[in-house]
Amino acid sequence: MARLELEKLTKRYGEFHAARDVSLDVAEGEFVVLLGPSGCGKTTTLRMIAGFVEPTSGSVRIGGRDVTLLPPWKRNTGLVFQNYALFPHLTVGQNVAFGLEMRKVPAGEIGGKVKEALRLVQLGHLEDRLPRQLSGGQQQRVALARALAFRPDVLLLDEPLSNLDAKLRNDVRVEIRNLQQRLGITTVMVTHDQEEALTMADRLVVMRSGAIRQIGTQRDLYERPADHFVADFVGRSSFLSGTMSGDELRTDGGLTIRCAKSVSGPAVVAVRPERVFVGSEAISGQDNAFKGEVEFVSYLGGMIDIHVRLSPEDRVIAQVPNHDTSLPEVGETVHVGWAATSAVFPADAELRE
Ligand SMILES: Nc1ncnc2c1ncn2[C@@H]1O[C@H](COP(=O)(O)OP(=O)(O)O)[C@@H](O)[C@H]1O
Ligand SMILES: [Mg+2]
Repeated sequence: MARLELEKLTKRYGEFHAARDVSLDVAEGEFVVLLGPSGCGKTTTLRMIAGFVEPTSGSVRIGGRDVTLLPPWKRNTGLVFQNYALFPHLTVGQNVAFGLEMRKVPAGEIGGKVKEALRLVQLGHLEDRLPRQLSGGQQQRVALARALAFRPDVLLLDEPLSNLDAKLRNDVRVEIRNLQQRLGITTVMVTHDQEEALTMADRLVVMRSGAIRQIGTQRDLYERPADHFVADFVGRSSFLSGTMSGDELRTDGGLTIRCAKSVSGPAVVAVRPERVFVGSEAISGQDNAFKGEVEFVSYLGGMIDIHVRLSPEDRVIAQVPNHDTSLPEVGETVHVGWAATSAVFPADAELRE
């Protein structure tokens, strides 16, 4: 258990930056998730922390000690991969013992530590099985036991749940989080799955193209996304684009949208679907109220998405609870409204992609 500090960690392959100036401070016992699309540099960053990839520049400190130049087995990090990476010809117990032997734990202590680690992941009874005699979820728990057996200062998890089916993924997600909290172990997990990230993390780090775009809690990212990319990647949004002057956005489709922030120039406003009210009468008491045509209704069970076209260029989605009332029909005219406090994002080149 220790604090983990990354300072301007960079990995270049030729001219290509797999990770660029990644700076991050993870507190003792904190669970941080690196979230971003495939290829954004999550694994590269994690492997630099573990010592399997040598940084081009920057530093890694664990518990205040600079470990940037140490080989993996000399830093006290436990790593769990997506594909378990268990040795097929070794038993569960031998797989867990392997990591301890690598770290030169005295032979007399290994048996006890293996049992303890397997007990932590509730697999004490399967010590003598071979990996192929276990389910995917059990194999992943063996990998977790192996990573925890030597009591690492930092636990590193690279998409540990992505090979499990949906139901099992939920169970193992809860197990990992409980275990992490119980042991109070500093943890960095990598995932491209926003739901997984949102449900497990104390804090999230959103990455794109090798760089950090935003660090924050679930609420920070959802309610105050730093930019268009974060707003799009975390949660869902309807984006309205146009030109800001003062606190008003004149959209490309000719609407005037009131916002809670003043910016000037091209901009994109993100409106979260659950913040949009919809009704058959004009919506009163909202800063923004428009009439539009229902383009699409999607029934999600507990929730219903109503896609409304406000102008040829502007569309919003309203997500409403399924309260057993009649739903608007496609083609029907409805009223929508939302508060000015919806986020505003300065436009930059990437918005015009
Ligand atoms: N050994 C390597 N040589 C060249 N490019 C690499 C190497 N490892 C990773 N990359 C590139 O770096 C980028 C980031 O990879 P990675 O960290 O694996 O992304 P993620 O885990 O977010 O999907 C990708 O474009 C990948 O192709
Ligand atoms: Mg990866």
